[in-house]
Amino acid sequence: MHFMCNDVTILPMNLSDVRTKYLTFFEARGHAIVPSASLIPLNDPTTLFTGSGMQPMVPYLLGEEHPSGTRVADSQRSFRAEDIDEVGDNRHTTFFEMLGNWSFGDYFKEEQIAWMFEFLVDEIGIDPERLYVTAFIGDEAYDLPRDTESVALWKKLFASKGIEATDVIIGSEADGYEKGMQGGRIFYYDARKNWWSRAGTPDKMPAGEPGGPDTEMFYDFGTVHDEVFGPHCHPNCDCGRFMEIGNNVFMQYLKKADGTFGLLPKRNVDFGGGLERIAAAANQTPDVFKIDIFESIISLLEAFSGKSYEDLAYQRSFRIVADHMRATVFMLADGVRPSNTERGYVLRRLIRRAAQHAQKIGVQNDQKEGSMLNRCAVIIIEKYKAAYPELASDDAYQQITSEIWKEEVQFGRALDNGMKEFEKMAQAGTISGADAFTLFTTYGFPFEMTLEIARERTLSVDAADFEKRMKEHQELSRSGSEQKFKGGLADHSEATVRLHTTHHILLKALQMVLGDHVKQRGSNITGERLRIDFSHGEKMTDDQKKEVERIVNDAIKQHLPMTRSTMPKEEAEGLGAQHEFGAKYPDVVSVYSLGPVGATLENPQFDQAFSIEFCGGPHVTNTSEIESAGTFRIQKEEAVASGIRRIKGVLV
Ligand code: ALA
Repeated sequence: MHFMCNDVTILPMNLSDVRTKYLTFFEARGHAIVPSASLIPLNDPTTLFTGSGMQPMVPYLLGEEHPSGTRVADSQRSFRAEDIDEVGDNRHTTFFEMLGNWSFGDYFKEEQIAWMFEFLVDEIGIDPERLYVTAFIGDEAYDLPRDTESVALWKKLFASKGIEATDVIIGSEADGYEKGMQGGRIFYYDARKNWWSRAGTPDKMPAGEPGGPDTEMFYDFGTVHDEVFGPHCHPNCDCGRFMEIGNNVFMQYLKKADGTFGLLPKRNVDFGGGLERIAAAANQTPDVFKIDIFESIISLLEAFSGKSYEDLAYQRSFRIVADHMRATVFMLADGVRPSNTERGYVLRRLIRRAAQHAQKIGVQNDQKEGSMLNRCAVIIIEKYKAAYPELASDDAYQQITSEIWKEEVQFGRALDNGMKEFEKMAQAGTISGADAFTLFTTYGFPFEMTLEIARERTLSVDAADFEKRMKEHQELSRSGSEQKFKGGLADHSEATVRLHTTHHILLKALQMVLGDHVKQRGSNITGERLRIDFSHGEKMTDDQKKEVERIVNDAIKQHLPMTRSTMPKEEAEGLGAQHEFGAKYPDVVSVYSLGPVGATLENPQFDQAFSIEFCGGPHVTNTSEIESAGTFRIQKEEAVASGIRRIKGVLV
């Protein structure tokens, strides 16, 4: 395939070309290139999956020193479960790589904006006439100024290419549809579009959360505006003319406990840009599924089905299979396994949905060809193994292909039996909550699949009743089913949050039983269990373990309130707040204190607290929420290194 541009044929740029160019560009500008973190966030109970490049960087944006210095860049594998239902159009994917570069108190707007312009225009070859940018309009309620600095910088850069860039005021997205382009190249939007924090707009941010104004870059495909979306087109319009290809966040603010904004210890840059989208723009195609990595999967599916990707009856299914299989390969490589809870459930849904859409296209598994999904997986491993060698080890290859196959077989059985059951239920003309629940628990039908099949047959589903039943279902109520598909801060599942608070209680109990030498040396929390590493020289006796369990369960039963305060680091240290050994903290920290009964935000009664820790949260508001989930048990106590023990614990 090739693309035409002003009568010059340009060769397609593949995904790894763009990745390499980006990393080389920033390496040449003093950045340490760091490896991508796992899709499973480490020590971060706030989200199921790593969903952006900045997530693993939060401690450094808050002021901790990054071991590689003040300039860092990477390509971070990311997964956004909240986009599952969007997959099928020409731009949404669940898995993507986010190109990222960071300045931790080093360079700021001037360098960042100039480098981005140079990278996109001179390195990748994007026509500057096709670039449009947006900037923050300011927010009087929070005393946050309009970002005129970024706008002035963009104007100069466009001028250097002979383009006069006019700035125009938009405001909200709705204003955009009314006002339209107004002859502008630079557009001021409000905080909903041009402010970035993990929690969203300034009003949504909890105390202690960093954020800042951003300036985004859009590629103009020059297509005709579709008025279904609104009267006029503007860069943030969803009609498909514009595609966002990158976001420069100037992280310099911190939300304070009194609700106002203060400055972070240092001014940071947090850039994130979707690799697939930048590649699509570089190839002048609005369809990210036309880039090399997806093209090879789609060609395979075409060859085996005899259907064409361009046939609109099947295009959505082609895209779903390609996207979901890529996400599946990376999730399996990072250790997620199909199950009925949390991450495992998301993975199960990806594989089953891919299988369902592969069937729709008409590709069949057979004796001779084996599993079609596995054939897709093998293409993905081959394509990515240069950048991600871990995918191609014998072990990973085995695990990935066998897990996909196992899940396909299980799903095949579930489908046969479940569809028979579904047909019976459908006779009633509607699917009740109880039916959907039976399909889920007995036949392994993901609820979304029940919804999809019902939608195709115009049957209604009682989703509210289904959700009520799910909540009652003990296993699943523990993982907060309704929150499963969200990313970012919104995604702290109830089970994880409960275990996070239990983790604080456990640390205190260990100190009470074993002594004050016990310090936290590491932690990891999932919806199923907690894990703590702590300093202690010998194996715990059975009596010690029993006593620790007793103290933890006793504290839970006392219904202690949890309060969060923000204070200078020295003040927190003065209170004896616990922190992880060796970790570095910013000057202003967030502290969680548990108990005593009667403690409030206004009067936290630190001197009588059961435990106080440096911690970003989130936590339960009262330990009664833990009590309803079960009793704390130590599952395992073992050595992990000399002088360091590890406990795995659960609520049962
Ligand atoms: N953290 C910013 C984003 O994810 C760059 O868009």
